[in-house]
Amino acid sequence: MDLWAQAGTPFFPHSMLAIAADVARSDQTQHRYTSMIADGEIVHFDNVGLRYGTEREVLSDLTFSLFAGRFYFLTGASGAGKTSLLRLLYLAQRPSRGAIRMFGTDAITLPRGRLPNLRRRIGVVFQDFRLIPHLSAFDNVALPLRVAGHQERDIGGPVRDILEWVGLSDKIDARPATLSGGEQQRVAIARAVIARPAMLVADEPTGNVDAEMALKLLRLFEMLNRQGTTVVVATHDLDLLRKVPDSLIMRLDRGRLADPTGALRYPPRRPA
Ligand SMILES: Nc1ncnc2c1ncn2[C@@H]1O[C@H](COP(=O)(O)OP(=O)(O)OP(=O)(O)O)[C@@H](O)[C@H]1O
Ligand SMILES: [Mg+2]
Repeated sequence: MDLWAQAGTPFFPHSMLAIAADVARSDQTQHRYTSMIADGEIVHFDNVGLRYGTEREVLSDLTFSLFAGRFYFLTGASGAGKTSLLRLLYLAQRPSRGAIRMFGTDAITLPRGRLPNLRRRIGVVFQDFRLIPHLSAFDNVALPLRVAGHQERDIGGPVRDILEWVGLSDKIDARPATLSGGEQQRVAIARAVIARPAMLVADEPTGNVDAEMALKLLRLFEMLNRQGTTVVVATHDLDLLRKVPDSLIMRLDRGRLADPTGALRYPPRRPA
């Protein structure tokens, strides 16, 4: 029985499973990634600090590990630094000091040209969505699969499935500008999960949808997590935190990390 079905999700994508297997086969770094999961640690920050320009640091003294297969929430007041920390995590921003290892690679000294290779393994839901304006919902979601070199004939099924899951079957051909905020957010989520990333980083992914849809999107992240994706969700919404029983919570307070559930020192849940 497949895991998506186990989660009580009648129509979630069998075709996505095929794509996932294919992604695994075609990814030459897969072997290295698997051996890294055995160690459990996929991200390590050592004494990281970030300042923008000459301002004071917005993130200070961050030392933590993220372990493969776990589900993390990152919480904290507006302005505490959640988006800044996520930007470091998805390698859009270099820290001002400290060391970062991602998937066993030193992300600080890595030549710029090799960054895309690491980034491709990270699915990102941006706080401001960042959909490509001239592409339809379908083409926005299909993009990661096309970039990964999948054949067109293998793309349509999974993209329609995931858009159906997020309730957008009737908006497949719509451009982002004609979608509501919540609809754009759901397209952004579909795009982030479609290629089964090793790590999903989501910045307030339920900020624009109603409570029922928020729960459904959370279930999608949990299903992905059960398949091995490490999930990091930034949110203010404390109700959300309570809805994922095994999740670990990191809290940012004015740029410094607190560790209310031991998230930052927990061993991996599923040693390989
Ligand atoms: N590009 C930037 N240049 C200068 N300062 C910035 C920049 N981006 C963020 N900041 C500052 O860094 C601090 C942390 O911002 P960040 O966006 O990371 O917070 P946040 O926790 O995500 O907030 P929110 O919950 O409102 O999204 C804030 O004081 C913000 O003003
Ligand atoms: Mg933010």
